[in-house]
Amino acid sequence: MQFAESAEDALSKMETDPFDVVVTDMRMPRMTGDELLCRVREQHPETVRIILSGQSDTKLIMGSVQVAHQYVSKPASPDELKIKINRACALLELLRKPSLRKIVSSMDSLPTLPQLFHEITEELKKEDASMKRIGDLISRDPAMAAKILQIVNSSFFSLPRTIKSPAEAVTLLGLDTVKSLVLTVEIFSKFDRETLKVFDIEGLRDHSVHTGTLARAIAAGDDMEKETIDNACMAGLLHDIGKLVFMENFTGEYQKTIQLAKSETISIQDAENSIFGASHCQVGAYLLGLWGLPGDIVETVGFHHDPGQLPGRQGGILTAVYIANAFARCGEVHMETSDLLDTLDTAYMKETGIMDKINAYDEIRRDMLEKKKEDDE
Ligand SMILES: [Fe+2]
Ligand SMILES: [Fe+2]
Repeated sequence: MQFAESAEDALSKMETDPFDVVVTDMRMPRMTGDELLCRVREQHPETVRIILSGQSDTKLIMGSVQVAHQYVSKPASPDELKIKINRACALLELLRKPSLRKIVSSMDSLPTLPQLFHEITEELKKEDASMKRIGDLISRDPAMAAKILQIVNSSFFSLPRTIKSPAEAVTLLGLDTVKSLVLTVEIFSKFDRETLKVFDIEGLRDHSVHTGTLARAIAAGDDMEKETIDNACMAGLLHDIGKLVFMENFTGEYQKTIQLAKSETISIQDAENSIFGASHCQVGAYLLGLWGLPGDIVETVGFHHDPGQLPGRQGGILTAVYIANAFARCGEVHMETSDLLDTLDTAYMKETGIMDKINAYDEIRRDMLEKKKEDDE
């Protein structure tokens, strides 16, 4: 760790030694934290940029949304800061690919963790946290509340009755699922008109909800613990978030990527790798890691297309999301389950015992589909 007295001092230290992470204050004489991070982005694009700032800097922070990857608000305990920095480093280790680090840091806008999600998390930490108050927090944003209700009442969830308020959704689905939905809705609502015209964002959102609900059902069918079931749902909802990051930041190039995948009949992640040198899995994992989501969610997103590559193989939520994603795709492109098996990593499936359970999983999928049909009719 090295300390610098000023922005100039920091820049000259960085000239001589490469740094993984730079943490800066906002208000400094001569050069603000904002300006410093701009220079760091130019000169050392692979360094993670963190701002440590006080409440009074809110305005300044809004202006610096473009250059910082992560904010830590003052006062921050040394432990809190250490955790943030450690996480950033661990992720760098996990996603060391220079090409990935380069594209992530060259992006103008890495989405920040939505405010409402943050508020719900804070409320949950309170000893007297209440379902009602969380419902109220969501209801404060009518557009958000409406979208949440639309999704929970869609056939994906096949609930026994129509949900009329966020509080009711919380009671019926549980806090964690609703929290994941808030995150999903916020992320998917951030797109500008131009991007919406070019990509099928609605379709991707449906695919994400489908994968999330299926992953939840598979994890529940496997008798996993409640927390694991919730995490499987969240990982399923967020598994393709890297695609959104590509769409937002590299609209033209990403259009070409999709065309390349089609014309060469290769997978989208192979096309991404050949154009960007990294895939939506890695970009997504990188982002969720910076947001501080649980490690197994980050891993699952990072390896959702090649689970066999994850060291120390386990079943768990990665399995649930891997299968859920495949089943969801299968339904979207009208493929038979028997043909689907040819596209999956059979060695991984045998090793983790999924192969023996695939029929049971398929049963869960068909059950959901049946209910969906009944609802649609
Ligand atoms: Fe994917
Ligand atoms: Fe997917």
